[in-house]
Amino acid sequence: MFITFEGIDLSGKTTQAALLYKHYKKAGRKVIFVREPGGTLVSEKIRKILLDRRNKNIFPLTEFFLFSASRYQLTKEIIKPFLKKGFIVICDRYYDSSTAYQGYGGMVDIKYINKINKIASENLKPDLTFLIDIPLEESMKRRGIIKKVNDRIESKEINYYKKIIAGYKKLAKSNKDRFKIIDGCKPVSDIHNQILKILKNFKI
Ligand SMILES: Nc1ncnc2c1ncn2[C@@H]1O[C@H](COP(=O)(O)OP(=O)(O)O)[C@@H](O)[C@H]1O
Ligand SMILES: [Mg+2]
Repeated sequence: MFITFEGIDLSGKTTQAALLYKHYKKAGRKVIFVREPGGTLVSEKIRKILLDRRNKNIFPLTEFFLFSASRYQLTKEIIKPFLKKGFIVICDRYYDSSTAYQGYGGMVDIKYINKINKIASENLKPDLTFLIDIPLEESMKRRGIIKKVNDRIESKEINYYKKIIAGYKKLAKSNKDRFKIIDGCKPVSDIHNQILKILKNFKI
């Protein structure tokens, strides 16, 4: 079972992915939790390049290739081998993030994205993708509250974020078999319970 979490920054992906991981761990299930970009030594190094605010002149395609390189390494080194060993793999972002951010965000041709996503994942598809949906205003509100230092990606324009939110919704619509849209404005424990309920129906 390959479960991914998607959504804009501060939507609650890491919170929910970590809760789900703890849930399965406590239940004695074989489970791992990885994040994107990252999750391997090489991928974490690529993550540093991507999030470094000094790297102002990365072209959109360079950025996409870096994400994809990180993803390929993570897929080959960790995700696929662990799935083969019967683990539940929980991933905080996967290729839908590239489609939403670089593709629907308007930076890279969606045709390139679709093609490279398939290569970088070796045709692996998440069994279930939780799209934690929050309005942009909620993301901004949370940003203000937690006073997080914006990294390079998080300091992009508001318009860009609106395109991403809409893009995620389009993705969910065209991949109804695996996408579950979750209202991210509900309390953390409510969302967690909703996720557990959905997973129960998947009988894992
Ligand atoms: N359902 C929620 N309601 C209110 N605040 C939340 C909720 N889920 C997460 N948060 C808070 O929002 C911030 C971002 O959460 P996080 O899980 O790191 O989001 P992401 O990984 O999507 O960027 C954190 O301060 C977290 O405590
Ligand atoms: Mg996160």
